[in-house]
Amino acid sequence: MIHAIMRDMIRYFEGDVKRINHALKVFCFASLISKESGTDEREDLIVGITALLHDIGIKEAERKFQSSSGKYQEQEGPLVAREILVRYDLDDTIIDRVCFIIGNHHSYSKIDGNDFQILVEADFLVNIFEDLVRDDSVRNIRDKIFRTESGIRLLEGMYPLKSP
Ligand SMILES: [Fe+2]
Repeated sequence: MIHAIMRDMIRYFEGDVKRINHALKVFCFASLISKESGTDEREDLIVGITALLHDIGIKEAERKFQSSSGKYQEQEGPLVAREILVRYDLDDTIIDRVCFIIGNHHSYSKIDGNDFQILVEADFLVNIFEDLVRDDSVRNIRDKIFRTESGIRLLEGMYPLKSP
């Protein structure tokens, strides 16, 4: 199922390779952190689907508001994700959880579970590189946002900090 949803995401972003690659990278890191954190099967599925679809609202945000700002992405994302996911044999509680995380994924104060936490960490691991985030900000992100042992190890390994 996860690969069919992957295919849906690639189709939805039709030719926008940058966003397709972003989603695939976030998916890979999220899967790794999930695996290394001992996440159970249900939560692992939520993590995987959320990672693939977390930025899915960006196209509607640009179409309706000519803006890709986080606020509009969060607003538009859940509906698009739901349209994709209702075609699958998925429990409503799983779809609701995926949509909740997508709808709040830039609002770090709303992190309320391991699944949400893993998605945010995986997104940062990719965004630090894509957005050329500076060293002092990386440290700040590590200290303020990261919680999982696996995510912290990945962050420190990928973006070595010059001093402790
Ligand atoms: Fe993202």
